[in-house]
Amino acid sequence: MAIKSSIKAYFPTLIYEGALVAEAQKQRKFLKDLENSSQKVFQSDTQGKKWSATHYPNGYTSYSSISNLHELNSSFINLKKKIDTHVAKYAQALGFAPRKLQMQSCWLNIMPPKATHSLHLHPLSVISGTFYVSVPKGSGALKFEDPRLSKMMAAPERRDKFASGSFARFAPRAGNVILFESWLRHEVENNTGVDERMSISFNYS
Ligand SMILES: [Fe+2]
Repeated sequence: MAIKSSIKAYFPTLIYEGALVAEAQKQRKFLKDLENSSQKVFQSDTQGKKWSATHYPNGYTSYSSISNLHELNSSFINLKKKIDTHVAKYAQALGFAPRKLQMQSCWLNIMPPKATHSLHLHPLSVISGTFYVSVPKGSGALKFEDPRLSKMMAAPERRDKFASGSFARFAPRAGNVILFESWLRHEVENNTGVDERMSISFNYS
């Protein structure tokens, strides 16, 4: 007679991905509008370009200069409203008590070829994420680190479906949002393509 045993997963790390607009034609219009608004932000943001030259090699971010995109104009306010809905769903899946999470900051990122963003987390926030406006070929994955990594003192290499090891890679798609808990370390891989990748990141707390 077989001996009974069971294996259950505890402490899962949840990562959310969703489309903001369902219909293809409406999505194209939505993305075009956001791209135009984002280009205007980029063109006007002298301070951000200066900061990026030192802190964001080969790329541009408005993180230090214009981090309230969600209050700036109707394009970004509309974006925020759509993201709010996804954040509510994600928060529910995480089992958070029904408290209102608010978007606290929102900024633009433009990553030309050779741009990369090394491992980091988003301190003092609860949920963070990125919405992808433009994702040309070769623009790199969003790579999450297994939060248990620093504790794996003698863990052997893993096989088969676990072969990717301690990282999970998401190939971003234009029109989609990816959400994660703000403590989860992540990085943006090198843009090996020839075109710029454009995204909008945010924090909720
Ligand atoms: Fe990030």
